[in-house]
Amino acid sequence: MSEPAMPASTVPGTRANTIFDATVKTWFAIAAVGHWIFVAYILSVFYPPIAADGVEGLKGMHLPSGFREGDFIGNLAAASHVILAAIVIGGGPLQLVPAVRTRFPRFHRVLGRSYLVAAVISSIGGLYMVWTRGTVGNLIGHISISGDAVLILISAAMTIRYAIARRIREHRRWAMRLFMVASAVWFYRVGLMAWMMLTGGIGIDTATFTGPALNVIGFAQYLLPLAMLEWYFRCQGQATEQGKIMFIGTLAGLTVYMSVGIFAATMGMWLPRM
Ligand code: HEM
Repeated sequence: MSEPAMPASTVPGTRANTIFDATVKTWFAIAAVGHWIFVAYILSVFYPPIAADGVEGLKGMHLPSGFREGDFIGNLAAASHVILAAIVIGGGPLQLVPAVRTRFPRFHRVLGRSYLVAAVISSIGGLYMVWTRGTVGNLIGHISISGDAVLILISAAMTIRYAIARRIREHRRWAMRLFMVASAVWFYRVGLMAWMMLTGGIGIDTATFTGPALNVIGFAQYLLPLAMLEWYFRCQGQATEQGKIMFIGTLAGLTVYMSVGIFAATMGMWLPRM
């Protein structure tokens, strides 16, 4: 992972390019803060009990798939999953800050490798938990989150492949795709909580944690960020001014939605458990 997250547009100077860069940087800054709030939650909720009691620390927590008596492998998968989550969610945005990469290149390299390994192990552990223990929601939810695991594994493999081949442009692009899919679980929480706050939960049965809105959010958690990233790549190339303005408008709207979600997730989901 070595691409500066949001490099300046290729054709500097025009007003659209300046606003394009500012919008992307604003999106990134708000997303990074939201990621680190989630990390604070992960560190304060999961690390102390696991440090004190190992996998048994997950006993009695809010995770339906957290601890099962006699299932050592499943418990290990759950404990390592939440431990590695801090590296994935905290490390992703850090990798994309250009100043960190240029000032601390060694740290950037070590974090990049740790991030990639953590994302791969988390996905495999997540697949194991979903398909051996189940979790909240229905089959559609299990399929959508499994799709994310597959995309994480593919993106990680492509990131390494192009790094080895020294094809830096492709390597950077795949590293950014990896960021989007590895952070999908964060987009899910933020997207869901914004929806709950703005609509009161239309299309969601909170008793069974199912419903059409959850089906959409389940796939949108990675398809939407990936689609926006591809559009961003195109805008960096030869997009017309009009194309860039459309991108700016869409990203600005999504940034407002994301900000609402970060606020709602922090107040309703993370802070109360910390
Ligand atoms: C790689 C990025 C991922 C991160 C950072 C991550 C993070 C987390 C965190 C923090 C939790 C604890 C729940 C909470 O308190 O919010 C959790 C639970 C869980 N995750 Fe992930 N996750 C990732 C990917 C996945 C994937 C790809 C799957 C499935 C294929 C998955 C399946 C699960 C399951 C089954 C639980 C337990 C939920 C329960 O107890 O019902 N995760 N994850």
